[in-house]
Amino acid sequence: MKTPAPATVRNRRVLIVGTGSIGERHLRCFLATGVEAGIVEPNASLRSEVAQRYGVAHAFESLEEAFADRLGWRADAVVICTPANMHVAMARSAVAAGCHVLIEKPLSTSCDEVSDLLREAADADRVVGLAYVYRAHPAIAAAREAVQSGRFGDPVEVVAVSGQNFPHYRPAYRDIYYKSRTTGGGAVQDALTHVVNAVEWIVGPARRVVADATHQVLDGVGVEDTAHVLARHGDIDREVLVSFALNQYQAPNENTITVVCREGAVRIEMHAMRWQWCVEPGSPWHNEPVASMARDELFVRQAEAFLESVERVSLPLCSLAEGVQTLKSTLAILRSADAGRWEEVEA
Ligand SMILES: NC(=O)c1ccc[n+]([C@@H]2O[C@H](COP(=O)([O-])OP(=O)(O)OC[C@H]3O[C@@H](n4cnc5c(N)ncnc54)[C@H](O)[C@@H]3O)[C@@H](O)[C@H]2O)c1
Repeated sequence: MKTPAPATVRNRRVLIVGTGSIGERHLRCFLATGVEAGIVEPNASLRSEVAQRYGVAHAFESLEEAFADRLGWRADAVVICTPANMHVAMARSAVAAGCHVLIEKPLSTSCDEVSDLLREAADADRVVGLAYVYRAHPAIAAAREAVQSGRFGDPVEVVAVSGQNFPHYRPAYRDIYYKSRTTGGGAVQDALTHVVNAVEWIVGPARRVVADATHQVLDGVGVEDTAHVLARHGDIDREVLVSFALNQYQAPNENTITVVCREGAVRIEMHAMRWQWCVEPGSPWHNEPVASMARDELFVRQAEAFLESVERVSLPLCSLAEGVQTLKSTLAILRSADAGRWEEVEA
């Protein structure tokens, strides 16, 4: 774990909006950094249960109620953990109330109001970041640094293969945002977005995509649970050919990203907490293990990084502009899957 957060960070007040699955995790992990936390949750029984479990004194029914409490408890930062179709409007009202914002992935389900949020955040000088938690994963961060140092030459190809048994981790998947694309559901917006964002972080933004995605296995939902995507990333004169394959039902929980560069290959195995590299044909991978981490520890790292960005010690792990880029990439993937042809990612 990193060194303790500075006193100014510990004194911050952070409002967690939506205390469902990921909201409760953010609440627990932000509290672990030493901040004071409040919550917004419209479900009254969940609100009082979570408030009691974590000793939260400031629990509101709505964001409006929290912001109307001007003379009482005032948040410095807001963490938006509601379904994706609500994220942008909530982020705009948080910025208007003078707060910094961390938004769960994906940024939204469309580009509506996104340019307003970008402009308003810049005008108000508020930090707005996206909670793409893979960026807090030490194996991804170390491998990215190695690739970007130029040690292996320019990246030319990426193969990203992911699978997880979603019902095992979210037994309620039929009843939550996941069941419809309009609330951020389906494999592309729910899971592939993490991988696309990580690959964009390593080799640059997607420019055009062609996708095959459909529903194969998960009971009780009709959204795609399998996605295969080919993409061109990076600058036009130094393009990287990328392929993604992802399903949400296989038994092993695996996530591997291989980045082939001109003078060596790099592989990230998130599930094995390591990255590897190989530069000699025929020689084995050289392992670079990283310290094993419980899932909460990744979220504490992410929370600390966000608080440091609020203190202007560093930039957010994933900026709003990068979140917008990944939103545009995933929307192009959905368009391509539906139309069956290559799609340009909106500039
Ligand atoms: N980074 C990750 O690993 C990860 C994991 C799970 C979910 N997520 C993302 O987090 C978001 C939430 O997912 P979840 O699984 O926690 O969903 P969830 O359904 O478990 O929780 C959503 C919560 O938001 C609350 N809510 C609804 N309307 C609200 C409103 N107007 N104001 C305040 N709260 C409101 C609901 O009552 C519910 O408690 C989604 O965007 C999802 O993609 C990210």
